[in-house]
Amino acid sequence: MHKINLGIIGLGLAWERLHAPALASLADKFKIVAVCDKDLEKAKGVAQSLGLCDDDAYNDYNALLERPDIEAVESLVPITGNYEVAAAIMRAKKHLIAEKPFASSPKAAYELIKIRDMYGVKVMVAENMRYEEQNLLIKNLLTSGQIGNPIFFIDNHIVEYSQESKKGGFGQTAWRQYPEYAGGVLMDSGVHHVARMRYLFGDASSVYAKGRPSGLGFSPYSCINALLTFKENITGHYSFFLAGEETQAPLTGLRIFGTHGEIYLEEPHCGFVNISYKDISRPSAAIAYTPKQGYVHELEDFYASLRTGGKIESTAEKALGDIETVCALLESAKTDQPQTPHETSKITAYVLPRVSQYPGAKSH
Ligand SMILES: NC(=O)c1ccc[n+]([C@@H]2O[C@H](COP(=O)([O-])OP(=O)(O)OC[C@H]3O[C@@H](n4cnc5c(N)ncnc54)[C@H](O)[C@@H]3O)[C@@H](O)[C@H]2O)c1
Repeated sequence: MHKINLGIIGLGLAWERLHAPALASLADKFKIVAVCDKDLEKAKGVAQSLGLCDDDAYNDYNALLERPDIEAVESLVPITGNYEVAAAIMRAKKHLIAEKPFASSPKAAYELIKIRDMYGVKVMVAENMRYEEQNLLIKNLLTSGQIGNPIFFIDNHIVEYSQESKKGGFGQTAWRQYPEYAGGVLMDSGVHHVARMRYLFGDASSVYAKGRPSGLGFSPYSCINALLTFKENITGHYSFFLAGEETQAPLTGLRIFGTHGEIYLEEPHCGFVNISYKDISRPSAAIAYTPKQGYVHELEDFYASLRTGGKIESTAEKALGDIETVCALLESAKTDQPQTPHETSKITAYVLPRVSQYPGAKSH
């Protein structure tokens, strides 16, 4: 099967740390033929590192999209640009690999789905949570009934986000420190948490969240605590604390309780999923997996979809559901009322306040 000729738009951290290494390991499936960044010197540097010439480096994505040799394009721009760049790629009749969140509101994501259908292109949203091996493993354990019927879960995330710049994390980017989209970090990182819950448990039928107003530039809340109920009647507690650190091990992590036992993942990179049983004659087990494989697996999925007609796991519809769920969490925290995620799409002009519009928020 022949390779997919690929263009890349946006050559920042996600390119350097995630997509470039994954694509390098899939050189039998993808050939990068053109790259684009607003910063032309950066684009030329990347083109050179890939063995391309200066003419393959662009600072205007519309010029890149005119190239007839390109079959598919990756959009790796900051969240505020996700809608505009994804729409342009699809209108140019190129298949699309779009970084998460697919758009910054349910309405915009819904519009993108309409554009996809109008131009008949394929879309994979690069939500690695739907491809990480630990999540595939946990899903298999759940669906094969290893812990009986799942009933309850705890999904806990704690990070000192203000230290991200110093630690060289993704949070160092100015657009994340002073976001111009609803939810700030809760949309950027929280969408991954929501995607994993939805991957494991299906659609949430109701969410009820409490937020602690932060006065921070990067998030309306320093902590969000939510009760979620899923359609299979699984209920759980999601918490995301952005201004702290867990100083004791083991971490709370993800714990799923079923009628016969429990699954425990301490953190995504720990390399083992633990399973234990109420029946103490059944030995507990630590099942090994290879962390950080989601970026490779998502590209393999996209390749299979284009070349063999396989079904994409991380569809635009699922990405829309993730965004709706994040917006429902934010709306619930704002109104102190439970919310139904899919109803956030019904409000066509649905716009949540930007982080800078919350009381006490810091701005530039
Ligand atoms: N899946 C993941 O785990 C993961 C991790 C990090 C980032 N992301 C996503 O990847 C995207 C990029 O994040 P990042 O951390 O790389 O940001 P970044 O700021 O490091 O890089 C973005 C790059 O896009 C360029 N750019 C901006 N607008 C452009 C335009 N109109 N045309 C061409 N280039 C443009 C910028 O110059 C910059 O080089 C975001 O949507 C983010 O949510 C996903």
